[in-house]
Amino acid sequence: MQLAAAAARAEVLRREIERHNHAYYVLDRPTVPDAEYDRLFRELQVIEEEHPPLRTADSPTLRVGGRPLAMFAPVRHAVPMLSIRTETDTEPAGARAFDARVRRELGLADAEAPVEYAAELKFDGLAINLRYEHGLLVQAATRGDGETGEDVTQNIRTVHSIPLRLAGNPPPLLEVRGEAYMSRPDFERYNERQRALGKAGLVNPRNGAAGSIRQLDPAMAAERPLSFYAYGLGASEGWTLPSTHSGVLAALAAFGLPVCEHRAVAQGAEGLIAFHARMRALRDSLPFDIDGVVYKVNSLALQQQLGFVTREPRWAVAHKYPAEEMLTTVEAIEVQVGRTGAITPVARLAPVFVGGVTVTNATLHNEIEARRKDVRVGDTVVVRRAGDVIPEVVSVVIERRPKRDLLGDEPLHPAFELPKLCPVCGSAIERPEDEAIARCSGGLICPAQRKQALLHFAGRRAMDIEGLGDKLVEQLVDNAIVKTPADLYKLGLLAMANLERMAEKSAANLLAAIGKSKSTTLARFIFALGIRNVGEATAKDLARFFGGLDALMAADSDRLQQVPDVGPVVAASIARFFAEPHNVEVIEQLRAAGVHWVEGEPAAVVSSAISGKTFVLTGTLPTLTRDEAKDMIEAQGGKVAGSVSKKTDYVVAGAEAGSKLEKAQALGVAILDEVQFRELMKT
Ligand code: IVH
Repeated sequence: MQLAAAAARAEVLRREIERHNHAYYVLDRPTVPDAEYDRLFRELQVIEEEHPPLRTADSPTLRVGGRPLAMFAPVRHAVPMLSIRTETDTEPAGARAFDARVRRELGLADAEAPVEYAAELKFDGLAINLRYEHGLLVQAATRGDGETGEDVTQNIRTVHSIPLRLAGNPPPLLEVRGEAYMSRPDFERYNERQRALGKAGLVNPRNGAAGSIRQLDPAMAAERPLSFYAYGLGASEGWTLPSTHSGVLAALAAFGLPVCEHRAVAQGAEGLIAFHARMRALRDSLPFDIDGVVYKVNSLALQQQLGFVTREPRWAVAHKYPAEEMLTTVEAIEVQVGRTGAITPVARLAPVFVGGVTVTNATLHNEIEARRKDVRVGDTVVVRRAGDVIPEVVSVVIERRPKRDLLGDEPLHPAFELPKLCPVCGSAIERPEDEAIARCSGGLICPAQRKQALLHFAGRRAMDIEGLGDKLVEQLVDNAIVKTPADLYKLGLLAMANLERMAEKSAANLLAAIGKSKSTTLARFIFALGIRNVGEATAKDLARFFGGLDALMAADSDRLQQVPDVGPVVAASIARFFAEPHNVEVIEQLRAAGVHWVEGEPAAVVSSAISGKTFVLTGTLPTLTRDEAKDMIEAQGGKVAGSVSKKTDYVVAGAEAGSKLEKAQALGVAILDEVQFRELMKT
């Protein structure tokens, strides 16, 4: 290509690629498929290779492929980078105290109007100063000691949401300050990959961000993807500043910089308190960590009037939230036995207040995870609880591990090992080589499994036996009154009334409930059997496909795989279940006891916009229970799945929604609140 033509084409490509970048990384609204983006990118790379002078400072190709540095050059900040005072009172009083201080400093009487604030999130990453000259990103620096930071321009170029060239009409000099952070999905992805390679993961996203920025090799930085939010200014020249901080943020967004949408202008302490509460409710559904919110006096003139104390502005404060990660110690490590015999190691902890509740147990997931984290009795550990996610041990503070003696290195406690025998029934614990989960081999011999299986059988979405709860099942199994679900239908009033704390009336009620459960549907019955990998949705698919139990029991793996959504793993589980004579016997006994269903139930589903769509429910909806929402979806032929994937059509999210919402956001799945959900159900 002729140089002139190449230059023109390169310019077009640069603009177009950066436009797609902005749409993808800042606006979260991809404009072209990835493949098309890649094609444009490669075309530009080729042109630049052929004509190196065309590799301009704002070329998106600079986002990859910088050379490793020997060290970071020091950068003296044109305007010092300050920090902000932290209000540690996580309650509304924290906001009131700040507002009262501001009013006092400004000499405002109680009767005077509320002060206007800009409220935003406190991002948990690393402060960065971006220097734009004539709209071009020329330098990025860390905060360092506030006076002098380090030149991390190459690494910052790998952050796709940071524009290499500002949009609109940028001034000759503009320094933008903000936070470089690692999003939760990027953090999880990175750790998953590391784990697969048998390497150590990152402790938390903040450390991930710091580690990424401080990589001398930009290729390594690019492997730990970061994001960025602008929250303020450094030096600027040739620009008439807006009169408010909220105006500054709007201007930065107009220059194409990423500014977090979760920000507000708030009036007085009450406005701040409302913002603090609103963001707290949102906290767990954000795809990144925050440890609080930040309040800034909105008027830049008033900011100037308030000035600074030592290195902190009087006009800003950080108002924290209760921590989602805390340290505590491990008192014991025990294992729990689940319905399908799955053995879960659980750390018993010294009680610790984390994520708003007191936690005394945290899951270690499975043997492999427990070994990987090497959690031992006596260890000090990081416990995390975010939203509705069950508390987990994140990592061990290895320096604090108790030693056998003061001088030696020998740890006091040995590494955790899964017991060889089930702590409940003494059967062997087995773990197939290619699986992470170990299981008690005792099956229904194991009281723990038997109890769980009975509770599952009686569950509201299974046989729906009202009144058959934990305590009762415990007694029935421990006293050997009930061994299998079929035994429930043989219970008499006498055996029941003899049980502890069982009044005759409740015994009669329970018997009535058991009697009532005899009339059920095939789908409920299949689900109630507790076949591994057969959840409610699969049970319904099976019932619909086979129309009767005998046909299902006779089906081989190939036939089973003809059922929509049934793959080889599920098919094998089902076939294995019915191949077990004991299971067949229990089914025969249940039928003999009078359990029945309407064979060949037609699927009475009207086709609608919902039919065939997959939903995931997460968090607490304002008025609907999870079961109600589920029934509404299924009544219209939709399906409810337990986890979010690319196949999910909608996520219905309520308060305290956790990782599922994050994942939905990351995958771009449609997210509905209750009002939108109800609206959709009407169509
Ligand atoms: S403003 C003069 N706004 O918190 C005020 N800082 O001590 C300068 N941070 O490390 C800071 N989110 O990187 C400001 N919305 C926000 C922030 C924020 C996070 C960090 C900042 C600094 C620390 C302040």
